[in-house]
Amino acid sequence: MTLKDEALSLQAEVAAYAVAGAADLEAFRLAYISKNGKLSLLFEQFKNVPKEDKKEFGQILNAVKQAAEDKFRLHKEKIEAQAEAQAGAAIDVSLPADLGMKGSLHPLTQTKDEIIRIFQRIGFNLSEGAEIETDWHNFSALNFAPNHPARDMQDTFFVEKDPDMLLRTHTSSVQIRVMESQKPPIRTLSVGRVFRNETISARAHCMFHQIEGLYIDKNVSFADLKETLLYFAKEFFGTQTKIRLRPSYFPFTEPSAEVDVSCNICNQKGCNVCKYTGWLEVLGCGMVHPNVLRNCGIDPEVYSGFAFGMGIERITMMRYTIKDLRLYFENDMRFLKQF
Ligand code: DAH
Repeated sequence: MTLKDEALSLQAEVAAYAVAGAADLEAFRLAYISKNGKLSLLFEQFKNVPKEDKKEFGQILNAVKQAAEDKFRLHKEKIEAQAEAQAGAAIDVSLPADLGMKGSLHPLTQTKDEIIRIFQRIGFNLSEGAEIETDWHNFSALNFAPNHPARDMQDTFFVEKDPDMLLRTHTSSVQIRVMESQKPPIRTLSVGRVFRNETISARAHCMFHQIEGLYIDKNVSFADLKETLLYFAKEFFGTQTKIRLRPSYFPFTEPSAEVDVSCNICNQKGCNVCKYTGWLEVLGCGMVHPNVLRNCGIDPEVYSGFAFGMGIERITMMRYTIKDLRLYFENDMRFLKQF
């Protein structure tokens, strides 16, 4: 075999050499590229090539050298990239865990849960009613006169096909459901959505949430009501909180009152949240009207009780000084993330 033939066969060898990994690549380097490799040995033969073949022999050898070096570099890069990718994929158990995006409870849910916990501590249980109610449970049994303005189309969503059915306008309807089906003593809380035909604004919505409380037993007095609400206000707004009861009117309670809590944003010095009065209105309450007890088959000569109702949106707004009611229902992460 002439030296030229040897060079050509080496060229074919280099081209055919299979490199599957780092070990193959090192063997390739030793066999062809290293100082003692086949290429160097052939270069050393240069002097023995007949003069007229030197040019062609040199060209072939240079081409083989180039091909061998290119092949080496290409595989080296590939192997290094693979190693890097593997290192990246390996798990470093000392790194802090990635918990991903965690959900959180809606501010209204947090308020609701807290109010429930406060009343559960003094023996209140939970009751549920229906969002689509009868006129009886939402109005008539609660002592609303047939022509009471709250029944008006402007406030109430009626079911078109059945004017006796409506979307409840308050959770007081649950009082009736509970008293119709249970005997006193009753100490219950009902939570849920209520609906009113209101134009949506920063202060009003057609759908919001209420919590209703009801306590019926022998000898329940207005003092019990006041003490219960003071307990609630201190637990929810802080121990320094004071309450104030103002006479009011609801068809289903007599006497009725509206309850204010002391504004702890300004410590009653006056601010724009309490409109410089030092007080914030939180709920309506009163002694259950004898007519309501009678409507549910409970003898008002034997039993008495109190009821109260509050808006969850409103109380949450007070707690966090939220200025616009619509924020609760927009699912804006920038708002929700703050709770
Ligand atoms: N139902 C009333 C409302 O939606 C709130 C209310 C007032 C509930 C007095 C009561 C109560 O239980 O005694 O505005």
